[in-house]
Amino acid sequence: MCGIVAYIGHRVAKPILLEGLKRLEYRGYDSAGIAVLEGNKLNLCKAVGRVSMLEEKLENKEGFDGSLGLCHTRWATHGGVTDFNAHPHRDDRHGIALVHNGIIENYAALKTYLQEKGHRFASETDTEVLAMLISELYEGDLEAAVQAALREVTGAYAIAVICEKEPGTLVVARKGSPLLVGIGNDEHVVASDAAAIVAHTTQAFMLDDYNVVKISKDGFRTSDIHNTPLTPKITQLEIDLQEIELGGYSHFMLKEIYEQPKALRACVSGRMDLREGRVVLGGLTNFAKELTKARRVILTAQGTALHAAMIGRYMLEDLVKIPSTTEYASEFRYRNPVIEENTVVVAVSQSGETADTLAALHEAKERGALALGVINVVGSTIARETDAGVYLRVGPEIGVASTKAFTGQVAALALVTFFMARKRLMSADQCREFMQEMEAIPGKIERILELDSKIKSITEKYVERENWLFLGRGYNYPTALEGALKLKEISYIHAEGMPAAEMKHGPIALINEGMPAVFIANRGRQYEKVMSNIQEVRSRGGHVIAVATEGDNEIRKYVQDVMYIPDVCEPLSPLLAVVPLQLMAYHAAVLRGHDVDKPRNLAKSVTVE
Ligand code: AGP
Ligand code: GLU
Repeated sequence: MCGIVAYIGHRVAKPILLEGLKRLEYRGYDSAGIAVLEGNKLNLCKAVGRVSMLEEKLENKEGFDGSLGLCHTRWATHGGVTDFNAHPHRDDRHGIALVHNGIIENYAALKTYLQEKGHRFASETDTEVLAMLISELYEGDLEAAVQAALREVTGAYAIAVICEKEPGTLVVARKGSPLLVGIGNDEHVVASDAAAIVAHTTQAFMLDDYNVVKISKDGFRTSDIHNTPLTPKITQLEIDLQEIELGGYSHFMLKEIYEQPKALRACVSGRMDLREGRVVLGGLTNFAKELTKARRVILTAQGTALHAAMIGRYMLEDLVKIPSTTEYASEFRYRNPVIEENTVVVAVSQSGETADTLAALHEAKERGALALGVINVVGSTIARETDAGVYLRVGPEIGVASTKAFTGQVAALALVTFFMARKRLMSADQCREFMQEMEAIPGKIERILELDSKIKSITEKYVERENWLFLGRGYNYPTALEGALKLKEISYIHAEGMPAAEMKHGPIALINEGMPAVFIANRGRQYEKVMSNIQEVRSRGGHVIAVATEGDNEIRKYVQDVMYIPDVCEPLSPLLAVVPLQLMAYHAAVLRGHDVDKPRNLAKSVTVE
C-alpha cells in the first residue's frame, strides 16, 4: 500500500532513500516524505504528489546530508492527502520520526489517551498516534519504546523509526505489511520490497509478524515485541536491476505486456516433461497424495488474480473433474465458510501480500484445508504461509495494472490442473497435447503483439465513449471481466464485464447507439451462442469489437472491428484473448492522457483490508 525505505550506514542517506522511494512509487503515490538525522538534528520534508515533487522541494534544503534516514510514499487511508498527513510523522518531545504502512485500528482510543497526556497532533492519521505513543513510552531506549508501543496497538503495520537521542539506531518492525532488511557492508537498507534494496545488496531477510529489528551501521538485533531474541533467516535476493527498469518502454505496463512471451516461457520452463507426458512441480511433489484424494478446490483472490482463479476453476472442473469454486477472499474470510475434509484452498496473488487474500488463507488453514499458493513474489507473506505452492516466475511486476502476472497465474494454474489431472484421469498423451499447446503460447502472443498498431487504431475510434461492455462465455467470461477491469482502472472509463448470456437479463437496457461492446468470440464450444449475443447487441445499435480466431473471416460481416488471435485449445484461450484487451486498455489510458503506471486512487499492493 505504501513504500518505505530507510537507511543507516556510512554513506549520505538522501540519494539512496530517494532512489529507493522512486522504485517503490508504484506502491502508493499520494504524497511523499523524508526524515534525515544530520548530527543530532532531525530534519523533515514532505510534499503532496509524486516523489519528484519531494525531490524538487528538497533541492536547496540544508540538513539532509546525514547517514541515517527514512522515507515514505503514501497511499492514504486515514486523513486526506495533505502535507500534514504525509509521513514521516514526528514527535517533538524526544525528536522521534516514524513512517508507517498499514492501519492502526485502535488509533482513536489511543489518541484520546495521548491527548489527555498532553500530546498535540498535527495530522488526521492513525500513524501519528503510533509516533506519539512511542514518544510517551520512551525512556531512553528506542527499541524498548517501540516494543512497548506495539504491544498496545491492533491493526497492521510496517514501520521504521529514528530518534534524535539515538543517532546510531534505526528501529523497524512489522505486522501484516511487508518489510525487508538488506545487509550491506557497514550499512543496512530497509524497504517494503526488494526493488529498493537490490542496487545496494542482495543479502536480506524478511521480517515476520511481530518482529522488531534494532539496526546500527554494522549490525542488527532481532526480537519480538516482548523482547525475546530471534534469529532471522537471511536469503539471497534474486532480482535483476534490469527487470525493474523501463528499458526503453514508455511505461512499465507496456513493457510487462510485451514481456509476456518471455515470462510465460520462464513460468513453464523445466516444469513440463513432454517425454513422460507429465508436469513436474517441485513445490507440490510432497503433497501429491493429498492432491490425489482432494474432493474440493476453493480458489480465492482479489481483482485480476480472482479472474485468473476463475479460469483455474473452469480448468479444474473441466479437466480434473473436481468440484471447484472461486470466491473473493474478502468475502470468504467473513462468510463463516464450511470447509469439508480433503478441501484444498488455493490463494492466487501477484504480490503475495494482499491483506484480504492472506486473511482468507488463515481462515482456510484454521478450518483444516490444505493451503496452496500461486504467487509471484518469492518469499512473500502468502508464499511463506501456504503449505505448498507454485511460483509464477514472471519477474517483478511494477505497473499497477496487472498484465504478465495475470497470464502467469493462468499458466501456473494450468500446470496445477495438468498435475492434478494426471494423478487422476488424464493420460500421458492427453497431457502431452496440452503441454504442447502451452509451449506454443508464447510464440502466439508474439503474433498478437505484432498487431499492436491495429489494436491502437481500433481503440482510437472508441476512446471518447464513457461506457463499455465486455462479454464472453465459458473460459473467456473471466477474460471479459479482466478486460473491463483493465480499462476502468487505468483509463477511468466505465466498463462492465459479464457472461455474454447475462446481458439479456438486464444490462442490455444500457445499449445505445455506438456503445462499444467487446466480445470474446474465438472459436470454441460456445462460438455460435456468442454470435447470437453479438447480433442482439448489433440490433440495438451497439458497436461490436470482437476478439476472434485467425481465419474467421465470416465474423467480419457481423461486427464493426476484429482483433485476431491465433487458434488455441479452449482452456488456454484466455492467455491469448486477454492480450488485445490489455493493449486496448493501455492505449485508451495513454490517449486520454492518464498516468498509466500510477492510476488515481490505486496502489499496487493492497495490504489493508
Ligand atoms: C489488477 O490490475 C489490480 N491492480 C488488482 O486487481 C490486483 O490484481 C489485486 O489487488 C490483487 O493483487 P495481488 O495479485 O497482488 O494479490
Ligand atoms: N494509515 C496510514 C495513513 O493513512 C498509512 C497509509 C499507508 O500505508 O500509506 O497515513
